[in-house]
Amino acid sequence: MSDIETPQISRGLEGIYIAESRICKVNGAEGRLYYRGYPIEALVKNSSFEETTFLLLNGKLPTRAELDDITRQLADARDLPQGVVRIISEMSGKAESMDILRTATSALSAYDAETADMSPAANFRKSIRIISRMSSIVATIGRMRAGGSYINPDKALGHVENFMLMLNGKAPDKQALDIMKDMFVIHAEHSSNASTFGTMVAGSTLSDIYSAITAGISVLKGPLHGGADEAALKMMKQIGDPSNTESYIESALAGKQRIMGFGHRVYKAYDPRAKVLKEYLLSLQEHSSEEVRRYTAIALRAEKMMIEKLSASHGIWPNVDFFAGPVYVAAGIPVNLFTPIFAASRSAGWCAHMLEYWKDNRLFRPLEKYTGQIDLEYVPIEKRQ
Ligand SMILES: CC(C)(COP(=O)(O)OP(=O)(O)OC[C@H]1O[C@@H](n2cnc3c(N)ncnc32)[C@H](O)[C@@H]1OP(=O)(O)O)[C@@H](O)C(=O)NCCC(=O)NCCS
Repeated sequence: MSDIETPQISRGLEGIYIAESRICKVNGAEGRLYYRGYPIEALVKNSSFEETTFLLLNGKLPTRAELDDITRQLADARDLPQGVVRIISEMSGKAESMDILRTATSALSAYDAETADMSPAANFRKSIRIISRMSSIVATIGRMRAGGSYINPDKALGHVENFMLMLNGKAPDKQALDIMKDMFVIHAEHSSNASTFGTMVAGSTLSDIYSAITAGISVLKGPLHGGADEAALKMMKQIGDPSNTESYIESALAGKQRIMGFGHRVYKAYDPRAKVLKEYLLSLQEHSSEEVRRYTAIALRAEKMMIEKLSASHGIWPNVDFFAGPVYVAAGIPVNLFTPIFAASRSAGWCAHMLEYWKDNRLFRPLEKYTGQIDLEYVPIEKRQ
């Protein structure tokens, strides 16, 4: 078989379809997003994280009995093995939150008797445990960063309320809880983006679901993907006063810097999730702190300027990560937990994709065009120049 001399290279796999899927539709041209056919706006307004998780994993909205069942399964799985709590404690203060999350999630496999069982039923049960426990891990990372110790979960609480309890050691106020419930639904799924693809590449080797999800966390960490929410808030902090916004953006763009929270490989219109978060932020205004109001003012000025400058020429609009930071701050979430919370929520989408892909698995193995030399003569080390 001869080599293809001039293969078509799609850098970053741009425009390449990797599979058929019934989980998520991103309409990048019109800025629309659907989980299993339901518009994201309707789910944020009406659905809980438990219900959204059921929808993503099973392909339909649950009946009351089914919702009660998945709610109980998620609640039952919440408690973390002591070994995992020790890992979080050991890494706390030494590593970034995403690094702790990646290690602790991987370690969960040691405490799961079904890790190596690749049957669909076992993979479904493990998915529930992973989705449940990643939130407990993230809450514990935050708790320990703040100098506290592990809080036992409360099975009687909903998924997000329990997350807030394990994070803060007390029940959240209504505003913070409402915000976080929406954040968990909004981040739960987004088709074959980099971290979902990373999850699927690892899973396609038929390793196991813990390995696959750990790969997803690794991919999500970067500032070009999930890490953009932290980076965007750090930028708002650097800008400091709203009146500095335009000059900051101007000089960043002149220096060819990327403005975090803008642009998207697929959306060439306003990201619908960013729209929801912007509206949320505006609705909070008078009920939020001076800090949140300042970030909001900066965000609105930056948004206006970026749209004026780059939407028509480059199709650049705010993405989900742009307004997420100020919204998290309004819920009392520290910046180092933004991306881990994204991961805890996205675990539902990652697991849904893995369960779907394994029904008709094919190993991912793309090609690269070799541009180096061949048939070189091996020169012994003493004769090398
Ligand atoms: C998300 C992202 C990686 C997608 O990038 P992509 O599809 O690879 O787009 P490209 O890198 O080809 O960029 C296309 C053009 O837009 C510009 N651009 C893209 N994102 C930009 C941003 N955030 N700020 C300024 N310019 C940006 C690029 O410089 C490039 O300009 P050029 O054609 O004049 O060289 C990119 O938009 C980005 O880095 N955004 C910031 C990080 C972020 O918010 N990530 C979260 C995504 S949900």
